[in-house]
Amino acid sequence: MPLSASADLADHRRALVATTLTQLFGRDPERFAHLSFAWDDWLVDLSKERLTRETLALLVAHARAVELEGWIAALFAGEKVNQSENRPALHTALRQQSDAPLMVDGRDIVPDIRATQARMKTFAAQVRGGLRVGATGRPIRAVVNIGIGGSDLGPLLVCIALALPHRARGSAGPQTEGVDVSFVSNVDPEHLTRALAPLDPATTLFIVTSKTFTTGETLANAASAKAWLASALGRGVDVGAHFVAVTGNVAAAGAFGIAKNDVLPLPDWVGGRYSLWSAAGLPIALKLGWERFADLLAGAASVDHHFRSTPLERNLPVVLGLAGWWNAAHLKHAERVVVPYAQALARLPAYLQQLVLESNGKRVARDGGALAGPTTAALWGETGTNGQHAFFQWLHQGTREAPVEFVVPVRAAHPLADQQSLLVANALAQAQALMEGRGGDALRAEFLAKGLIGPSLDAAVAARVCPGNRASTTILMPEISAHRLGQLIALYEHRTFVEAVLCGINPFDQFGVELGKTLTAPIVAALTSDAPLPEATDASTRGLVAHVRALSSRKRS
Ligand code: F6P
Repeated sequence: MPLSASADLADHRRALVATTLTQLFGRDPERFAHLSFAWDDWLVDLSKERLTRETLALLVAHARAVELEGWIAALFAGEKVNQSENRPALHTALRQQSDAPLMVDGRDIVPDIRATQARMKTFAAQVRGGLRVGATGRPIRAVVNIGIGGSDLGPLLVCIALALPHRARGSAGPQTEGVDVSFVSNVDPEHLTRALAPLDPATTLFIVTSKTFTTGETLANAASAKAWLASALGRGVDVGAHFVAVTGNVAAAGAFGIAKNDVLPLPDWVGGRYSLWSAAGLPIALKLGWERFADLLAGAASVDHHFRSTPLERNLPVVLGLAGWWNAAHLKHAERVVVPYAQALARLPAYLQQLVLESNGKRVARDGGALAGPTTAALWGETGTNGQHAFFQWLHQGTREAPVEFVVPVRAAHPLADQQSLLVANALAQAQALMEGRGGDALRAEFLAKGLIGPSLDAAVAARVCPGNRASTTILMPEISAHRLGQLIALYEHRTFVEAVLCGINPFDQFGVELGKTLTAPIVAALTSDAPLPEATDASTRGLVAHVRALSSRKRS
């Protein structure tokens, strides 16, 4: 960061933290108007964050100093913004609405994208229409996506969010076509076993989604799925009709037994956690139909347009990213809590954990140099109102502050309008409570009136005081539909990119996940074949392996 911008922000921070949020509202009667940002029926309210108009101006100046606008242009242009892996990150190309050429290494990738989309569309129509048959000639009725991380979380989020019949496009009734789609990610055999229990092998299709086709969990589950089919359908039967792959590694999919015609490509210029817009979104097209998948892409494309063409000061992903970076890097908040007030968005926190933490959980700059400060905060969350009856106590009265993001779809997709108002009111009230808190005076009067005095009175009051002055962002989205969900996800993707640029890191690699994978292999060997552990293995790991071996050799009680 240029020294002057850094010093300005540090001075500004010192002055700001001495002021409460309610004082900030008192000082600027127009605070809500100045710090809430509207676009296409969305509203992002930053007025309950610990920042002012001046903070935002300083942050925008910093964004310009680190050439955020240039980075945004480079992202969309297909420049190699993933420098450590020497490739572009072109998830935006996958939802580009026009056929304007986009060159990667001298080749226009748009015709390839359209070709894959045409295959996805045809495939989805065939399966949903009962035209794709399994090895015994019976139509496929159930699809299981086997994949993990980016090959699972995005499609799962979307399928859960849009699955309800009342969200079906242009119809209030139950879907008349379609297939049952489920997801298996965990290497824990329970996950696969439970998913397969209600299914008929003769009518089940597996999508093996893996960009690399080397991910241990996915390969183990795919092999078990194959064995399940073979044992049910007979060893001689070709189970190939029950598999398709979505991968960048056609050879490995072929070696597994999936015919080339049944492999949909996952190009190396799309990162795993950004891949739901690609053929990795096949489960979405299968469950919801091609039209709604196309709506999802169009929604994301509208945010892409906003992101690349709106001045930084009014740009939703930018202002969200600036506030996030301010909270993490300057106010030193180690955590960030996302609470979607929608059961349909139940998997949003899990999805964002990969998007945000795998992207920005880094400790060195793009060039390998040291960073000026912390990068991203840890992210966790749960739906509202459920979270209110779990961790909100910690948010209101715990000893640490974690800024909260309230994601609130306003218009309901169901007819229970009163209950929807109750849901939305809960979100707004929680944000208000975090900021305003509850002082001791009224409580003291209340307990005095009840006859409490002395230490009992003090203790009763102290236990109930909420300090307030706790920051939050509220994101009001119009409703949950394929278009709006595409917008929400793209908003978070771009915000994550903005924070990476502000930190000076590459959000598109993830080398930190490799070490654990490497260390797993010798432990598997030790557990399954008594192979000796490598000499350098620490005493704790040795002790744990010995105990697992001992327990495994005993009968379950
Ligand atoms: O967790 C590491 C990771 O490489 C993620 O980045 C990725 O989304 C996931 O594993 C799955 O990878 P693949 O799609 O190659 O199986």
